[in-house]
Amino acid sequence: MRIRPAEPGDAGQLVSLAEQVGREPGDFLLTTDAWRTVGEERRYLRAVRHHPDAAVFVAEVDGVVVGRLSLARDTHGASHHVADLGLMVAASYRRRGIGWALLERAVEWALAAGVRKLELHVFPWNEPALRLYEAFGFAREGLRVGHYARGREDVDAILMAYRVEPPAR
Ligand SMILES: CC(C)(COP(=O)(O)OP(=O)(O)OC[C@H]1O[C@@H](n2cnc3c(N)ncnc32)[C@H](O)[C@@H]1OP(=O)(O)O)[C@@H](O)C(=O)NCCC(=O)NCCS
Repeated sequence: MRIRPAEPGDAGQLVSLAEQVGREPGDFLLTTDAWRTVGEERRYLRAVRHHPDAAVFVAEVDGVVVGRLSLARDTHGASHHVADLGLMVAASYRRRGIGWALLERAVEWALAAGVRKLELHVFPWNEPALRLYEAFGFAREGLRVGHYARGREDVDAILMAYRVEPPAR
């Protein structure tokens, strides 16, 4: 397994990964409507490639993209030290340490970018993700009540954050 920055040529695989995960019965992802088109994804990956405030990393196994982690820094000056992250791993590749390895890569990116806090939203029913984030060191910061529209319902999300510390010398 290899973790690397996403390239525009990954767009097709990344769209199909998101569509596969989005179709799972677990209702894990925030997006309920269609993911980006391949063209939109390619444009986004191209824009992000050299952008200082955003990044996409992929996990690749035998040339196949099986995981994705996206980061985007807050645009407001007062919270410019904070970046939001999103993560997904293909169902048949879970529980092999890929999510963990992508989070480690996110922390490396944050350290290099001067980001001091990583945050994310996770649905209260998403036990695998909650377990992963808590084991990694994310703390629950609060409950965002009715924060995400899913179909006709507004559902709650747990806000979690990780304090990025430079490695001890
Ligand atoms: C959440 C998700 C990213 C985890 O990815 P993963 O590659 O399976 O995670 P890892 O293998 O790195 O797991 C590391 C640790 O997290 C915990 N963990 C992960 N999945 C777990 C599960 N299903 N049940 C219990 N603990 C779990 C365990 O402590 C695990 O260590 P272990 O396998 O040695 O026990 C993956 O399940 C996924 O993509 N789910 C669908 C999309 C999603 O929910 N994204 C997050 C939205 S906020």
